[in-house]
Amino acid sequence: MKLFLDTANLQFIKKWAPTGLIDGVTTNPTHLSKEGADPTKQVMEICTIMKSYGDVSVEVTEQEPETVYKQAHAIAKLASNIVIKVPCSKEYYEVIKRLVADGIKINSTLVFSLEQSLLMAKLGAAYISPFIGRLDDIGVDGLHLIGEIRSMLDLYEFESKLLAASLRTVSHVHGVMLFGTDIATIPVAIFEKMMEHPLTEKGIEKFNVDWQKLGVKKFP
Ligand code: E4P
Repeated sequence: MKLFLDTANLQFIKKWAPTGLIDGVTTNPTHLSKEGADPTKQVMEICTIMKSYGDVSVEVTEQEPETVYKQAHAIAKLASNIVIKVPCSKEYYEVIKRLVADGIKINSTLVFSLEQSLLMAKLGAAYISPFIGRLDDIGVDGLHLIGEIRSMLDLYEFESKLLAASLRTVSHVHGVMLFGTDIATIPVAIFEKMMEHPLTEKGIEKFNVDWQKLGVKKFP
């Protein structure tokens, strides 16, 4: 299972990418807007940091299909490790098909149903990104969808990877792990929370206290 960071923040990407735990980054217009920097420069910097660790998903921001197609090509030229995010909307199906034929890796974003996932798998999207938290927001069990998409991709032997997105809690990460996601893209705050367990800290303290009682100066 791969872990991506769901952020456009350079400081956090620099901090966590070299640990060997991070396999990619997902950005979106909200993340880039939050950073406030020139988005082209920001994306290129993220791609440089991630060069030896994994790919970087960057979303199109144009609306009209032909312009989206051209923008996708322009974004893809910024770096060799870019994956283009295109919203899973019917007006972009043809664009996705053409981009896949052009050899551009597509992350199909804003996916909310099994049916949409099937369509994106058939179009050859490299990643299918169901938004768990946003489904929970409207009272639908987002985690259940991960299990359904997993079964569908395996049953029909599609090559698309399942990328669980819009994860808002450590429990979401726990759930998508058990439902067999290929990738979880995780906000930095949730990623940092995943590392903590009070019993680990307590255990280290106790071992340390007990070890001091032995009074040895050199070991081994
Ligand atoms: C990642 O690809 C998505 O854009 C992101 O996870 C969306 O998260 P949100 O629903 O919390 O905005």
